[in-house]
Amino acid sequence: MSTGPSSAVPRKTTTLTLREKHERREPIAMVTAYDCPTARLADEAGFDAILVGDSLAMVVLGHPDTLAVTMDEMLHHARAVRRGASRALLIGDMPFMSYQADEAEALRNAGRFVKEAGMEAVKLEGGRAVAPAVRRIVRAGIPVQGHVGLTPQSVNTMGGFKVQGRTAAAARGLLEDALALEDAGCFSIVLESIPDRVAAHITERLHIPTIGIGAGPGTSGQVLVLHDVLGLFDRFTPRFVKRYADLGAAAGAALEAFRSDVQSGAFPAAEHSYAMDDEEWRAFLESIGEQLPEASATTRR
Ligand code: KIV
Repeated sequence: MSTGPSSAVPRKTTTLTLREKHERREPIAMVTAYDCPTARLADEAGFDAILVGDSLAMVVLGHPDTLAVTMDEMLHHARAVRRGASRALLIGDMPFMSYQADEAEALRNAGRFVKEAGMEAVKLEGGRAVAPAVRRIVRAGIPVQGHVGLTPQSVNTMGGFKVQGRTAAAARGLLEDALALEDAGCFSIVLESIPDRVAAHITERLHIPTIGIGAGPGTSGQVLVLHDVLGLFDRFTPRFVKRYADLGAAAGAALEAFRSDVQSGAFPAAEHSYAMDDEEWRAFLESIGEQLPEASATTRR
């Protein structure tokens, strides 16, 4: 009798799994999730990693950018994701000003994602400037994913959500940022909105996997925001998004049908209602001094 793990039970994904996939040149699939049901869907769909992204601020909480979301809000959603997923690697995205001020605060907040929300890794934005914080967190035993290129927490210094690394100097800066993050101990780096040839070159120069979003096909894997994939966010759609469903339209139609059924009286029907035995009903009426009207002496079950 075999004592090894059943082949029917998918193996828990770790940072090591991602590294192995990268070395075998097998594409890594990552998606964001923000609550228990979406995490369960992503886990069951077979994603390698689930990112509780600070895009939460925009696609769930309705902010115009990612700057306002707090540590406590991120942890609240990360805990829900933890409850929904059992196999994918879970990564908590460190929100704006949770790691920039100093390395000790960065470490404390990274630790909160692990201790209070069951995350297995954290992600933070920036290159050489955040390398000391990355080093400190990794040394404490928490895996860190870097994020360079379009870093939404710097929207005000970038002058908007703009493609990065299009000049020779900017591309060189991105490469140096990525190398510094690898040297600081990152297990992976997200490359966002940069030219495909720059992303492919960075990927070739690194030993750790890169995960692209708007970075072309030459990265070790791809990530998209769940609400973009499912058609649940329509305030704007970046060029790099591929929409796989229009759940926003489907949800709108379903809600309209429900509202219309309520207003017309079509809902609830008998099958949506609960019955009570005649005897109990009679006893109830007697107990309050009322008689059962002749016409209503039928049982509804
Ligand atoms: O917050 C987020 O969703 C992200 C991904 C776009 C990588 O950082």
